[in-house]
Amino acid sequence: MGVPFFDIHYNLDEGVRARILKRWQAILEHGRFVNGPEIEELEVALAEFLGVPHVVGCSNGSDSLVLALRAAGVKPCDEVIVPAFTFFASAGSVSRIGCTPVFADIDPETFLVSPESAASLVTERTTAVMPVHLYGRPVDVGALRAAVEKAAGRPIAIVEDAAQAVGAVQADGPCGGLGETAGFSCFPTKNLGATGDAGFATTNDAERAERMRALRQHGGGRQYYHDEVGYNFRMSCLQAASLLEHLPQLLEWNAARAEGAAHYEELFAAAGIDEVLVPERVPGHVYHQYVVRAQRRPELQAWLGEQGVGSAVYYPLPLHLQPCFAELGGQVGQLPHSERAAEEVLALPIYPGADAAQREEVVAAISAFYARQPA
Ligand SMILES: Cc1ncc(COP(=O)(O)O)c(C=O)c1O
Repeated sequence: MGVPFFDIHYNLDEGVRARILKRWQAILEHGRFVNGPEIEELEVALAEFLGVPHVVGCSNGSDSLVLALRAAGVKPCDEVIVPAFTFFASAGSVSRIGCTPVFADIDPETFLVSPESAASLVTERTTAVMPVHLYGRPVDVGALRAAVEKAAGRPIAIVEDAAQAVGAVQADGPCGGLGETAGFSCFPTKNLGATGDAGFATTNDAERAERMRALRQHGGGRQYYHDEVGYNFRMSCLQAASLLEHLPQLLEWNAARAEGAAHYEELFAAAGIDEVLVPERVPGHVYHQYVVRAQRRPELQAWLGEQGVGSAVYYPLPLHLQPCFAELGGQVGQLPHSERAAEEVLALPIYPGADAAQREEVVAAISAFYARQPA
């Protein structure tokens, strides 16, 4: 039968398409293509959905992190602690504002930044830590903050990379409201995906929100007057319109992902595959990805491909070993948990359009691989 890793059309049925087109038609009519009314409408709807008071729509998730870092008070030449095992943009955003990313290791059980590793890297120049809610699993930001502030002996800003975690909730509150500021991505494959690039930043603090609004539009609250140098990070109204049509289904989609994860857990338990380690299921996780650790991953992934089963590797090379960060002196062996994760992780189909029969096919194919080629 074959199982695609992802199919964008799960969120584009006829009804949704018609509603998006209607909104796009309305934009053509009103003609306010930039800074049109859809932006504020979306910001208000997202704030209510997330339970975080201030939402600032912007061009994409990468840029939202730049806004979030600057509004958290991070200045050029500061150091920002970032997990080494994440998407490039987490650290890229730090470099883009003239700061140094300092790479922390992850907890091997959760794939999330290790508070102990982060605390061990605090220096006089550290002003922020960026926890990444990787794969949609919320970081315990309170524990992280306690560890790094104890090491520093002063406040350290927490800038959440919530790009993969829209709707995720931790015991202390919603992702996006756990730190000083946060950034989210609405890249089309995300849990809340646009029909192009889009993102947004969040904060509980009205002043920081105002600063992010100014920064996304060249750093001025008033047209042609600039308090600081900002950017053109505005969100397209067409994207805001698509997101407004997708948002009402997000709860249902996130629930479908969590059901998919529970089903995978049952299937793997029944199959008894020793070579595969499934992720722990935790409340508040939104399963942007369902990621297992697999022995002989390259061979397994090739085999799955031959069986028509899609899979993906997020991420094959930790950031401290990326060529662009070579001057920071990262060495193989320095962050062993990140390096091992990069060799073992495999993401399986989890998008809301994937059904139970397809998950059965995925696990049967994995089972067949290890049965044919025992270690
Ligand atoms: C963890 C993480 N941070 C940041 C980003 C950047 O988001 P965007 O692609 O919308 O710029 C992504 C997107 O994949 C991500 O997964």
